[in-house]
Amino acid sequence: MCGIVAYIGHRQAYPVILKGLKRLEYRGYDSAGVALVNHGLHVYKKKGKVADLEDTLVGKDLQGSIGIGHTRWATHGEPSDRNSHPHTSANGKLAMVHNGIIENYAPLKQELLNKGYTFASDTDTEVLLKFIEDIQINNECGLEEAVRIALRRIVGAYVIVIVDQDHPDTLIAARKGSPLVIGIGKGEHFLASDASPIVEYTKEVVYVNDYEVAIIRPDELILKNLGNERQTPFITKLDIELAAIEKGGYPHFMLKEIHEQPHTIQDCLRGRMDPAAGTITMAGVQNHLQQLVNAPRIIMVACGTSWHAGLVAEYVFEELCRIPVEVEYASEFRYRNPVIHHGDVIVAISQSGETADTLVAIERAKEQGATIFGIVNAVGSSIARQSHAGAYTHSGPEIGVASTKAFTGQLAVLTMMALKIAAAKGTIDVKRYQHLCAELAAIPEKVAAILQKTDLIKKIADKYKDARDFLYLGRGYNFPVALEGALKLKEISYIHAEGYPAAEMKHGPIALVDDRLPVVFVATRDSYHEKIVSNIQEIKARKGLVLAITSENDEVIPTMADDVFSVPEADEIVAPLLSVVPLQLLSYYVGVAKGFDVDKPRNLAKSVTVE
Ligand code: AGP
Repeated sequence: MCGIVAYIGHRQAYPVILKGLKRLEYRGYDSAGVALVNHGLHVYKKKGKVADLEDTLVGKDLQGSIGIGHTRWATHGEPSDRNSHPHTSANGKLAMVHNGIIENYAPLKQELLNKGYTFASDTDTEVLLKFIEDIQINNECGLEEAVRIALRRIVGAYVIVIVDQDHPDTLIAARKGSPLVIGIGKGEHFLASDASPIVEYTKEVVYVNDYEVAIIRPDELILKNLGNERQTPFITKLDIELAAIEKGGYPHFMLKEIHEQPHTIQDCLRGRMDPAAGTITMAGVQNHLQQLVNAPRIIMVACGTSWHAGLVAEYVFEELCRIPVEVEYASEFRYRNPVIHHGDVIVAISQSGETADTLVAIERAKEQGATIFGIVNAVGSSIARQSHAGAYTHSGPEIGVASTKAFTGQLAVLTMMALKIAAAKGTIDVKRYQHLCAELAAIPEKVAAILQKTDLIKKIADKYKDARDFLYLGRGYNFPVALEGALKLKEISYIHAEGYPAAEMKHGPIALVDDRLPVVFVATRDSYHEKIVSNIQEIKARKGLVLAITSENDEVIPTMADDVFSVPEADEIVAPLLSVVPLQLLSYYVGVAKGFDVDKPRNLAKSVTVE
């Protein structure tokens, strides 16, 4: 989950690459580097953020209209200058950047060591580059051919881009598993891990497919498979604007994205749900409606925050569609050899559409004949292209590493999907269907009302920012929201936090409760309300500090809790789209109060493209 940028054309490559790396820094920020070809190969790399690299390059020769760049999330080899990319070949003529993991790098390295090669780093990347170089020498072939031969022996995931000082008019790139987009300009080409470094130069892009090698010159783009057969590049138009990937006056992308939710949820509903007519139009669902209606089981497969969206959907689908739902961690599902029955439908949920575990999990399920329905935010991403059908969340680019607006977008899409299936299946009556459509349509405005009270949550965050641990509790539809709240706090503030079903407390975790432990109750009014009131009493009986997220007109819980943040009333099925917002803000303000880089939390990256 590194970020790669490359350029070839008539401009100076360095400024294009540097700006692009800064846009991709949410993908990894352990080290950064560039390689430029200009009367020879110039490689510059450094541990730390892109800005650190930029500082060290003042006064250096940064000329050249061809170059590659990298921002790293370390997998093989700790963050350090020598493990930073680009890596160079033994003859010093080739430089390469890589995003992914070469699983069989150790035996390849041994082969090369036996041939007398030495290694300057601990990375799998340097091994792949010297393996390519060795084939070039032994087979006396060109770089492109050597790359194709080498990749036929590679196990793992990769995007690689190589510059060759002897061929300053050509970039060679290849892809399997990790994402690669090529932007087509006039007399120039831009390469990147996603579209954000490209959108300001061109809207015409090619998403490179698995096992494709690209030969790129200023005026030419050739795609081939590893068997040397030409592939036709499929050009698509980007539908994102530059402004969407700028901070827009907010101090952080995370805060901007939290505040975008009234619009992004509206964008997700727009053109799909017509509450007045009581209709939901989702082509992906419509085209597979019978399969969905008759599915003996729906299996939600995802990771992290997307997994929490799947857990909310389990409650919604079972309630409305009466279809049994299982929610699977993709990383376990892909290796567990799960039993998939004929007709089962896999719903793969992913913001980035590039999460490796989810991608491989759906490949495994496909091998067993399952239908894959993708719920994805990133348009054109791998999971979207691997799915048989799907629905985009239209949340716009999500730059902050902590997922916020994509989560509410996922909930909105999943709820519309469940309503559409339930209506077709006849498991919901017209009155309730129209009621829930109206409830969903009212969400954007209610989220906007919550965002008016940001100062209150900021004050609460300040009060609890020095707590050592947090507990998040919820019941029913709010249980997954409690898990999500705990995840957000962990990611952004590095405070240990756990989410639990509130009733589960008595079976152990209540031992943690004392007068220094904040316990966040996600307790909007629902069919579990009385039960959660008694859970709050249990915590207060042990002097726990209670912060409660309640519904506006709740007269009971505010009398019991130490701090209360209320959200507008809503049906329990859509309430998670509201109750999560103050939890997103809480984690943000605690992280900011503790002085952390909330957009790029330590050890994390936005899209986990390696397993
Ligand atoms: C959430 O804030 C994290 N960034 C992470 O847990 C994320 O949800 C997970 O990696 C899944 O990513 P995806 O939705 O892009 O597949």
